[in-house]
Amino acid sequence: MPDFKIAPSILSANFACLGQEVDDVLAAGADMVHFDVMDNHYVPNLTIGPMVCEALRKHGVTAPIDCHLMVKPVDRLIGDFIDAGAGYVTFHPEASEHVDRSLQLIRSQGVKAGLVFNPATPLSYLDYVMDKVDMILIMSVNPGFGGQSFIPAALDKLREARRRIDASGLPIRLEIDGGVGVENIAEIARAGADTFVSGSAIFKARNPEEANRYDGVIQRLRGELAGA
Ligand code: DX5
Ligand code: ZN
Repeated sequence: MPDFKIAPSILSANFACLGQEVDDVLAAGADMVHFDVMDNHYVPNLTIGPMVCEALRKHGVTAPIDCHLMVKPVDRLIGDFIDAGAGYVTFHPEASEHVDRSLQLIRSQGVKAGLVFNPATPLSYLDYVMDKVDMILIMSVNPGFGGQSFIPAALDKLREARRRIDASGLPIRLEIDGGVGVENIAEIARAGADTFVSGSAIFKARNPEEANRYDGVIQRLRGELAGA
């Protein structure tokens, strides 16, 4: 079985108690924290920045923080997120004037680098930088908001990205983001994804009856992956 990773998107968490929310999803078995950064310019929403990433580290979070930058320009914030403790920094190629340079900037600080592909963005941006990415993130919604429906064309794109990764022989993770939940995670895994962002499906399944409020949903996601 591939080394599947579950990355809850804290965009759908209760920000009034973010540290506890992150502790809870990690205790329930999540592998990393997906951290959505939006600037009201590249995408029509405004979220959280490096101070919040640093606060999670100071709170004691040791799991990788997967910082998905939906900001333009990206380069200055890359440095800020690395200083704030990011484990991955991914960005959209349309948001950088010099994609190769931005990727190198991330990796030069020992942080894993990734490119993010909107639903209409071609994978050809990878043609000359495959050796400079640690993660390919396929968007299965248009970026900006949690709770949107999965766009089925992302499955073909995942298959194409999987072909490229396998042909390269490089240890590149293939992440999917948007509309992922218990009902479709197995099909997404069969299309080649190994890293699954899920925001609303996880945080809306909060169950105060359980010892850990997110055990049930994380187990259901893992169960689907085991049968994929
Ligand atoms: C959307 C963000 C996603 C979002 C996913 O722009 O990149 O990470 O939080 O949320 P769900 O899982 O609810 O679609
Ligand atoms: Zn995201």
